[in-house]
Formats: sequence, C-alpha cells, structure tokens
Amino acid sequence: MIYKEFIERESRRQRETITLIASENYASKNVMEAVGSIFSNKYAEGYPGKRYYAGNQVVDEVEEWTKDLGLRVFGLKKDEWCVNVQPYSGSPANMAIYLALLSKGDKVMSLKLSHGGHLTHGHKVSFSGKLFDFVHYGVGDDGWFDYDEIAKQAKENKPKLIVTGATAYSRQIDFGKFRQMADEVGAYLLADISHIAGLIAAGLHPNCFDWVDVAMTTTHKTLRGPRGAVIFSRKKLAADIDKAVFPGLQGGPHVNSILGKGVAFEEALTEEFVEYQKKVIENAQFLSSELTDLGLEIVTGGTDNHLLLLDLSDKQYGAGKYQDVLEKIGIVVNKNTIPGEKRSPLDPSGIRLGTPAVTTRGMGRDEMKKIAFLINQAIGGVGQDGFDWGRLEKEVRILSSRFQVFFR
Ligand SMILES: Cc1ncc(COP(=O)(O)O)c(C=O)c1O
Repeated sequence: MIYKEFIERESRRQRETITLIASENYASKNVMEAVGSIFSNKYAEGYPGKRYYAGNQVVDEVEEWTKDLGLRVFGLKKDEWCVNVQPYSGSPANMAIYLALLSKGDKVMSLKLSHGGHLTHGHKVSFSGKLFDFVHYGVGDDGWFDYDEIAKQAKENKPKLIVTGATAYSRQIDFGKFRQMADEVGAYLLADISHIAGLIAAGLHPNCFDWVDVAMTTTHKTLRGPRGAVIFSRKKLAADIDKAVFPGLQGGPHVNSILGKGVAFEEALTEEFVEYQKKVIENAQFLSSELTDLGLEIVTGGTDNHLLLLDLSDKQYGAGKYQDVLEKIGIVVNKNTIPGEKRSPLDPSGIRLGTPAVTTRGMGRDEMKKIAFLINQAIGGVGQDGFDWGRLEKEVRILSSRFQVFFR
C-alpha cells in the first residue's frame, strides 16, 4: 500500500538526516499513539458538558484532563486563568484571539515578519493583515529589541493590542517591558510563545504569564507535542476566546490531538523534560560558539534560547544556495531573513538553526561541534569545482545513524 511506503520513506529521511529546523521536533510514541487513536473518529462540537453531539462522555474527560494539565505545565491558577485546548494549530489560534479581542480594522502592533515575526502577526498576505490594521516594530541593526523605540512606536500608534513573540528571535523577551507599553496606551498584551513554550514551561525563559492578558502556543515545537495549539487567557476574557474558537472559527475539535496535547503536557511536567530543555539551550549556545570560532557570523553574537540566526550576508550567494547544499549532505535547515536584510525574502541572507529536534535524539556537545564543522565545510564548498560533497554526506549519515528517532 502506497501510504506505508510514504511513511517508510519519510521515516528513513528523518532518521538519516539532521533536522536543525527550529520549529520541528519529534513527538514521543505516546503522543503519536494518542493522535493516531480512535478519538479521531469522534465529533465533539462545543465544550465539555455542552456538546452538540451525543456520545462525548469520555471526550469530555479528555478535554478537562488536558486543560488541567495545560494550566499545571505553566503554573497557572484555575481561579485566574483559563485555557482553550481546541485550536487546530497556531494560525487559527492567533485568528481566534484577534476575533475575540478586536473589531475589524482595529490597530495592532507586532514584530515584522522580516525581523522574526510570524505571518499571522499581520503580514499583508495573511488574514491578520487583511482584517486588522497592523503596524510593525522591528529589531535594531544589532538584532536585539530596542524597547525604548518600540515603546515610542506604541505611543504614536496607540494600538488596541500589542503582540509579542517571534519565530526567529534568539534572545530573551522582556514581557514586563511590553506590559508597560501596553498599559501606557491601554492595549491588550498577547504573547505568542509558540517557539519558546517548552523553555518557559521548564523555567528557563522569563515567564510571560505575570504580564500578559492572553498567551498562545503551538504544541509541536519545543513543547514536543502533537501539531496543534492552545490559548491561555485571563478569566475575564475566556468566554470571548472560547466563543471565537468555537463557533466563531472552528467546527468540531480534533479530540485525538487534544488527547495528544494532554500526553505532551504530562511529559512536560517531568524532570526529564526540564533536563531536555536545558540541553536544548546548551546545544544552541555551543553550536553558536563553535560556528563563531569557525569564522561565521551569528546575529546578536549568540543565543539565549533554542535557535540562532546565521548571517551569511558576506557570502557570495543568497541563503537559498546554502540551504540546498546543506540539504544535499543531509542537514535540514531553513533560509531566513536577517535584520537589515538587503536581499529578497525568497532568497535572503540568513539561515535559522534550532536544536530542539537534535536534542530529542540525544545529541550533545560533541555532535554540535561536528555539526558546526560540517555546516562550515558545506558553506565553504559552494562554488568550488570538484568539491567532495560525498564525504560530507557520508559523515552526516554516520552521525545520524548513531541517534535513533522513533523509539523514545
Ligand atoms: C510564532 C509563531 N506563531 C504562530 C505559528 C503558526 O503555527 P501553525 O504553523 O501551527 O499554524 C508559528 C509557526 O511557525 C510560529 O512560529
């Protein structure tokens, strides 16, 4: 059967290559079992105790169990916070939040896509940019947030909502400073912690929950759960968020994914998870320092979290070419714009590297050193006649074959 062949081929690809895509990870067997379970068969429009279909006794328990665990993962009190575990993914979660808090055309402030923001933070090709009036802040030329500058912009623009959070920002976010800006103009504050949720859950990144009105996260990145998202909101906003998710935006929740989120939250409450997140950061920092020692440039000079941005603007080609040669030898990355980008977003000057996936496989310092060496060699090989790509490919194969993917 062809679908089995697809799974086999993709399994082989995932085993034999090294994934440095910062938003990817390997969910556990238990998470995969939950997502592939018979809960996929059930329709459950509505919320626990208020469903539009019969037969949801067990489903109600699943959803309550997952919500409970979600709040516990982030240390949130039930009398202050609510969580909605139904969003299909990060993009609809953001949409639901905007629908709950804003009216069409309202002003919102968020990080520019080319400086590390997300499409759903108001890019003009996204629903968000079409429905709401987004103004964007950026990072300074050094790649760091300039909080005074962002505060100035907030005062000038008086947004109804300020969005913090990023897809490609390697430094800690000072949520308290964003709160101050939001208070000065009477705005709501949303933290999109899709990338750093695992680090926050493990207490390794300053917590956003002391400051924000709403926070959302995808569950499939550092959190290492199934594809999906959850929204945390202060109690007074919860009814509006719930209404915006269902029936505002979605139909029946994917109960199999909700169960998978619950499994991932249980895993996130273990000491092993905290140790894992520590290693994710250590690996990113070590990879960054090794690349720097080899003469490569890192935006902001390093990282506080799970990702780093390689600045290749002094190289002969755009990052697309380097992404391709890295893929050719088995190192999977994504090209990315960098602050002050001079090239086009389709072929920018940066490469984003993340360590969540390789750390899940058990890789550590020795492997980061080797990976930095291989990346540097591959970048150096571009444009050289007769360069021995086969040698690098073999080294990647040997390295990845030592670290299993599927049997955690
Ligand atoms: C910061 C951030 N927000 C939202 C999303 C959207 O998530 P999804 O791809 O699940 O829709 C992403 C995904 O990359 C993201 O990085």
